[in-house]
Amino acid sequence: MLKDSGKPFHDYVHVESGTVDRIIFSDQAIYELELERIFARAWNFMCHESQIPNKGDFFLSFIGEESVICTRDKTGALQVFLNTCRHRGNAVCRAESGNARSFLCTYHGWTYGLDGKLIGVPGYKDLYHEELDKDQWGLISAAKVTSYKGFVFATMDPEAPDLEEYLGPAGRVSLDVIAAQGPLTVVEGVQKNVVGCNWKLAVDNLFDFYHVPISHASANMSGAQSRGRSAALLNAPRMNHRVLLGEYGHAFGGSILNPVVWEQIDAAKANGEPLEVHLQQEWRKKPEVAEMLGDMGDLSGHPNIFPNLWYTGVAGAQLCLRLPKGPLATELWWFTFMPAGLSAEAQEDRRLRAIHNFGPAGLLEQDDGENWNQSTLATLGTVARRYPLNFSMGRGKAAVMESNVAGSYVETPINEHAQLWTWRCWADWMDAESWSALRASHTLPPKAGEFV
Ligand code: FES
Ligand code: FE
Repeated sequence: MLKDSGKPFHDYVHVESGTVDRIIFSDQAIYELELERIFARAWNFMCHESQIPNKGDFFLSFIGEESVICTRDKTGALQVFLNTCRHRGNAVCRAESGNARSFLCTYHGWTYGLDGKLIGVPGYKDLYHEELDKDQWGLISAAKVTSYKGFVFATMDPEAPDLEEYLGPAGRVSLDVIAAQGPLTVVEGVQKNVVGCNWKLAVDNLFDFYHVPISHASANMSGAQSRGRSAALLNAPRMNHRVLLGEYGHAFGGSILNPVVWEQIDAAKANGEPLEVHLQQEWRKKPEVAEMLGDMGDLSGHPNIFPNLWYTGVAGAQLCLRLPKGPLATELWWFTFMPAGLSAEAQEDRRLRAIHNFGPAGLLEQDDGENWNQSTLATLGTVARRYPLNFSMGRGKAAVMESNVAGSYVETPINEHAQLWTWRCWADWMDAESWSALRASHTLPPKAGEFV
């Protein structure tokens, strides 16, 4: 298989022509290597701290395809463990979230503390003759667990850089834009559904504003979106777009809150009209927020924290994980956030928008999911695979600038820079055999004055 062909993964991503070989979106061997070289190595989003505020609270998440328990131990410290018993491997936690004093395996009864230690073994004296070294048989722990402004991440690789270094300026500002709306809590109940697509094609789409007027035309015609929102979506290609290009594949792409949008906001407020949720931007005017976001204060597009965490403000504030489930399936997990201080009416509005836009009942996601499914299936064709996919929009035309908070960025009409950057960095991850190799060989963001 390809895995053993010795061909570098950079040979599948053609930066000069702006094309990418289809095979990376469905090959089984490539997928298996992604689990090893990307997911088992990267910082993966677990949950938001508001989901596990108390000692003993837990939330089940995933690293690649592996179930993990994210919990707070008796000291309140965050812990992440693989959800697998060390005896025969059974899951030790079946509930998606809750509060526990310990995790009891339902097969033979081995019991683990909130710190992952093996604390109970039926028959320890009579059957194991007290010779089982319990200290050696605790749950398998993440190498590092860290919260950045309430967003909890874990990595299984001890060689990984610390989270803040991993995120870099582009990743940090992406999370700052969400955290600045806080204090935040997650609405109970993560919306989950499976789409028949490769996880990378779902990630690719989060930067894609080219598809909006076509893919979502029927959603707009249905009247589910307000007229203002529809107009904004239909005009998306003509808006100014800003793309941040970060180390290790983090990127941020989409339109900015330009003066025209601010005029709409101010006019609506002056007329006493209720503001659409995507226009509720008062939080940006706080001095501490303005200082934190610096010259990126008008970001309103979509970031992706590599590999698979994206944020959208379409329904207020939501994060979505694109969890890999084999090369041809992706499970989408939607976390809906509520900033403190919203009225009951405003909260209900956000909940309804979250349900109507994304998730299993979401009008927009049904449009998108069909396209991703067809795109994925068409990467399997023996003949089709001879022809690469095209990511050349705007290639070579964007002058790189330097932000005072977010590193390299470009500002152009709608483009495909973020997508091509993501797959170029994906090849860095896939070609590097370890974190030290990745650190030494990864593509650095372009510098001011260069063109991408
Ligand atoms: Fe867990 Fe045996 S598999 S106790
Ligand atoms: Fe879409």
